[in-house]
Amino acid sequence: MKKIVVLTGAGVSAESGIKTFRDSNGLWEEYKIEEVATFDAWRRNSDLVLEFYNQRRKQLMEVHPNAAHHALMKLEEKFEVQIITQNVDDLHERAGSKNILHLHGELKKSRSTLDENLVYDIEGWELKKGDFCENGSQLRPLIVWFGEAVPNISIAAEMTEQADILIIIGTSLNVYPAAGLLDYAKPNIPIYLIDPNELGVSGISNLTFIKEKAGIGVPKLVEQLLETV
Ligand code: APR
Repeated sequence: MKKIVVLTGAGVSAESGIKTFRDSNGLWEEYKIEEVATFDAWRRNSDLVLEFYNQRRKQLMEVHPNAAHHALMKLEEKFEVQIITQNVDDLHERAGSKNILHLHGELKKSRSTLDENLVYDIEGWELKKGDFCENGSQLRPLIVWFGEAVPNISIAAEMTEQADILIIIGTSLNVYPAAGLLDYAKPNIPIYLIDPNELGVSGISNLTFIKEKAGIGVPKLVEQLLETV
């Protein structure tokens, strides 16, 4: 079976009703990254950080996967599909995709502040002060904050190197090292980039830019790819 690696960003969940970060009225227009998405913010004001992720977790419980998530699951009928997502939502999981690697963490999980290997599911939408790990340290969201290492990036790079086809959906390719995964793809494999906005990724001869929202562009591409097998 041919291997397809799919790199997704916030845009793949936009039509499910989850805000992106850098579009107009995106999350980073409403909140300052340095106030809610860095370890320093956590040290300075953990209540605000907990609240920021609690609100996003609460919203996540009210939204559903969209046509793009479902189409990616369908792709598994004839391809070995590995999703590498920058998103912390669980919409790929809920759409039924089997192989999902989260680069920036998972909203519905927490971790010990002192030991990143102690990871827990969060029951419901709230993570509160006084929720402790088994060693007695405060639980924090299982999110890779700006300035923190991305533990899964080397596995993600290895996966991308093995891809026969690379699909990139709904990411501004602004944030490294995730955005650098594009460079790990073998030189002549087909690359598809789906985004309603121009991204200025030019000069890549084997890249097909599909100027569509994910909910339209992904099902169309999946149908095309399934017909080739
Ligand atoms: N379908 C597809 N793409 C869309 C849609 C849509 N309906 N709506 C918006 N987009 C595109 C935008 O044009 C943009 O290119 O999705 C992209 C969203 O970009 P960002 O908001 O920068 O999100 P992302 O690339 O995922 O951000 C990467 O930055 O803030 C950190 O950790 C956070 O994982 C995030 C990372």
